Amino acid sequence: MEEIGRNIIRLESVDSTNNYTANRVRAGELRHGAVILAVEQTQGRGQMGAVWLTEPGMNLTFSVYLDNVNLSVERQFILTKIVSLSLVDFLNGRGVAAKIKWPNDIYVGKKKIAGVLIENMLKGSLIKKSIIGIGLNTNQKEFGDLSATSLRLQTGDHCSNDEALFSLIERLNKYLQRIDDSGLNREYLDHLFRMGEPASFEDDNGVFEGTIIGVDTDGKLCLDRDSSVKKYSLKEIKFIL
Ligand code: BTN
Repeated sequence: MEEIGRNIIRLESVDSTNNYTANRVRAGELRHGAVILAVEQTQGRGQMGAVWLTEPGMNLTFSVYLDNVNLSVERQFILTKIVSLSLVDFLNGRGVAAKIKWPNDIYVGKKKIAGVLIENMLKGSLIKKSIIGIGLNTNQKEFGDLSATSLRLQTGDHCSNDEALFSLIERLNKYLQRIDDSGLNREYLDHLFRMGEPASFEDDNGVFEGTIIGVDTDGKLCLDRDSSVKKYSLKEIKFIL
């Protein structure tokens, strides 16, 4: 895949970098690899309709536009792996022991440090274009009631948002080259939070014990539950932290 990050668009304030990117893609105004960065998002969006709130100017909030992805929808989870591994690689490189909480939340211990919102545009069963939204807590120190953390809190040092952005772009480029590499799955599992550890989860029927044993190709979480394998989609299961 062609490199990303040659064109960086910097916005002072926007509703959501994912919305902005989608609008400009629809208008035919963006080329593959554009990175759209905002100092402030007024309506930052998270997964499953949640909001993504961060203090203006403190953290990294940006989107990356990928054109000509040409990935079948059944393989869409590869993008999740690529982005999660890029974030973990970046954070581990800074001495932060980050893990991937399935599917693509990045945690340090029980605290969230980054979130990812990938939105795809399809043609038939093929992903043609993809918008990868990333929120990484860099310098925020207070998170109120949220169980969240930041690079600043983890390392004790101020983090240059530009340096972090360039470093992340480098990682994303590295992992995007491996889009067809089946070894990504093993690497993803090696960094998965609670992989192979008995833990508590919750589904519609209540809390239960299980052990994560893997993630299947369409991204479902596979658990060993009472000695049989059960598969869950994002809406069907919650982690008890
Ligand atoms: C989540 O963990 O729920 C996903 C959070 C994704 C937040 C990022 S910030 C940049 C981009 N623009 C958005 O509106 N959301 C994503």
